[in-house]
Amino acid sequence: MERVATGIPGLDELLKGGIPKGSSVLVSGGPGAGKSIFSMQYIVEGARLYNECGLYVSIESNPKNILWDMASFNWDIKKFQDKKMINIYRMKMGYNKDYKLVEDKIDEELEIIASMLKEMNAKRLVIDSTTSFGIWFDKAILRAMLFKFVDYLKELGCTTILTSEMPNTKEKFSAFGVEEFIVDGVIVLFFTPPYRSIFVRKMRGTAHDKNLHPFEITDQGLIVKPKETVLWEATK
Ligand SMILES: Nc1ncnc2c1ncn2[C@@H]1O[C@H](COP(=O)(O)OP(=O)(O)O)[C@@H](O)[C@H]1O
Ligand SMILES: [Mg+2]
Repeated sequence: MERVATGIPGLDELLKGGIPKGSSVLVSGGPGAGKSIFSMQYIVEGARLYNECGLYVSIESNPKNILWDMASFNWDIKKFQDKKMINIYRMKMGYNKDYKLVEDKIDEELEIIASMLKEMNAKRLVIDSTTSFGIWFDKAILRAMLFKFVDYLKELGCTTILTSEMPNTKEKFSAFGVEEFIVDGVIVLFFTPPYRSIFVRKMRGTAHDKNLHPFEITDQGLIVKPKETVLWEATK
């Protein structure tokens, strides 16, 4: 099976080499857990280490703010943008009382994203974050919509990271409790100040490590310690 290495030090070891190619993986965690940094690192390292093009789709902030947020890392994002290897796109949700119109708008945006992926021959995609989708729809619609999209990405041969804001319970790993069932994998980030830890909750098509491991955020991005484990009590 082909795998896509995340390029995040230590994490690929937990995944026996990487994410199965074509998968959609939810990266879930509370605010400040490191979801956006994880996502950008996946795109940057894809370009830098594996020569793969990547598209970073943000729903909440514009490309300028994202670059500003990521400026403290040792990543030359601009260099890859100039080489057309990395693209940052802001998905426009639009606000409307009629949610059918919002749904149409999202369909339209997903088509734009699909054509961008094809045009740049992107192998990596990030959608940060899916939580904003769910504010507009009931669970059934959200589920159908995400399902259709995730299916389509598989056809394109794209390996996707979707982020989701996680509520403060151990039973749910996504904001609406539906995203985690649609995706092929779930990676959870915990932040119990000052400690950070990471856990592979699910990954279809591969064996994976089942322990909770510490990680740090440095000026290189996330660094996971695959040889060290953390007790579950530490995430409370
Ligand atoms: N250069 C850095 N070095 C160390 N930690 C950082 C750095 N930049 C940001 N952080 C940490 O990362 C957090 C933000 O991570 P982010 O990925 O934006 O969170 P999320 O998307 O999960 O809300 C900040 O609150 C800060 O604690
Ligand atoms: Mg974020």
